[in-house]
Amino acid sequence: MQKLSITGGRPLKGKLRISGAKNAALPILAGALLASEPVVVINAPQLQDVKTMIDLLASLGAQVVVEKSGNVAVNAAGLTHFHAPYELVKTMRASFLVLGPLVAKYGEATVSLPGGCAIGSRPVDQHLKGLTTLGAQVTVTEGYVKASAPQGLTGAEVHMDVVTVGGTENLMMAACLAKGRTRLHNCAQEPEITDLGNFLNKLGAQVSGHGTPTIDIDGVEQLRGCRHWVMADRVEAGTYLVAAAATRGSIHLVDVEPDKLGVVLEKLQQAGAHIDVGDDWIRLDMHGARPRAVDIETEPYPGFPTDMQAQFMALNAIAHGSSTIRENIFENRFMHVQELNRLGANIELHGHSVAKVHGLDGLLGAPVMATDLRASSSLVIAALAARGTTTIDRIYHIDRGYEAIEEKLQQLGSEVVRLN
Ligand code: UD1
Repeated sequence: MQKLSITGGRPLKGKLRISGAKNAALPILAGALLASEPVVVINAPQLQDVKTMIDLLASLGAQVVVEKSGNVAVNAAGLTHFHAPYELVKTMRASFLVLGPLVAKYGEATVSLPGGCAIGSRPVDQHLKGLTTLGAQVTVTEGYVKASAPQGLTGAEVHMDVVTVGGTENLMMAACLAKGRTRLHNCAQEPEITDLGNFLNKLGAQVSGHGTPTIDIDGVEQLRGCRHWVMADRVEAGTYLVAAAATRGSIHLVDVEPDKLGVVLEKLQQAGAHIDVGDDWIRLDMHGARPRAVDIETEPYPGFPTDMQAQFMALNAIAHGSSTIRENIFENRFMHVQELNRLGANIELHGHSVAKVHGLDGLLGAPVMATDLRASSSLVIAALAARGTTTIDRIYHIDRGYEAIEEKLQQLGSEVVRLN
């Protein structure tokens, strides 16, 4: 199993291009199943999760080509299978996003219940409830969800009981080919949902209100092809910004969307970072100072993102002062605490959702293990800030969401090596 070896203590310095967003590319690739003509997805990041989605689309009978440029061309006009097997869905929860498009377009789908990061039980009840409201017959047996709507779906009012990103996306896609109007209430407002809505509209869908709590979709008979540029990855950008802050460095990110990082940039400023932004760039400079501890509470967008919680925990571990981190989205998203403490951090857990972090002047390198995607990026940040060498095991978790992480960190002057 591959490991990362990181020798810490060097401030991150330099310029870095941010990749396309994993969490936008995945639903967009699933949405390509709705189109009756070829779709080209530009700026999709080259990541394990994207490869898993490509494999899944191909297993359904879509023709998928990753061009030399990195663009992903999908032709899903003649699908032959409507079955997403456990082997593919278990490694990535976003695979479940093929359910809505398949049942909407072909009137049937069998999709394994999802796996993905082990961050608490992550039900899909809202996806299923919504599809049922749109007229699908949904059953769950032997680990598989079977949905059928031989006469097609019918637009309806759908009220989601929890704010769910994947649920909003699945239902938004399903409603595009339903008969009549669908109104989705209590939608997630993440920028990736806005990107998906923009993509669907380029296909000829009639989606409005994406990015707000209420989304309206007027169903159409058929969707055409399009070329779509995936938005920048706000979590990747945030992760490198926190890494620069934790190492008292200065970095300049390009091809990034600062307006999607509002509360993350505010928290970094509270931590003592000097931040300048342009339309598509962000500069962060710590002027050599140690960061200050900041309290964090995760919320649905536009609140503080759960996908940045672990990284700020690493920052707080070496910051001046104590802080409280409250995780409100997922019930088991503190697996990095134990590993950060192996590096010498002083973090106490209070139940499943509160961590108290007592900032220390320094951490010391040690062997640690990655447990989920964002947890592993917090270990990278802590290792970059620590004295000595840290080896991080099970970095396949990191490769799910961070494109060429060791090359990008090397570009910023870090001592990072991938060990086979
Ligand atoms: C997406 C992101 C993930 C991010 C998360 C929250 C992708 C590919 N992944 O995951 O990186 O951490 O949003 O911002 O975009 N829930 C239910 N019932 C449901 C669905 C969800 O109770 O039917 C609960 C979940 O257990 C969780 C909360 O709702 O507690 C939020 O989950 P959700 O927004 O659906 O997360 P994902 O779409 O899986």
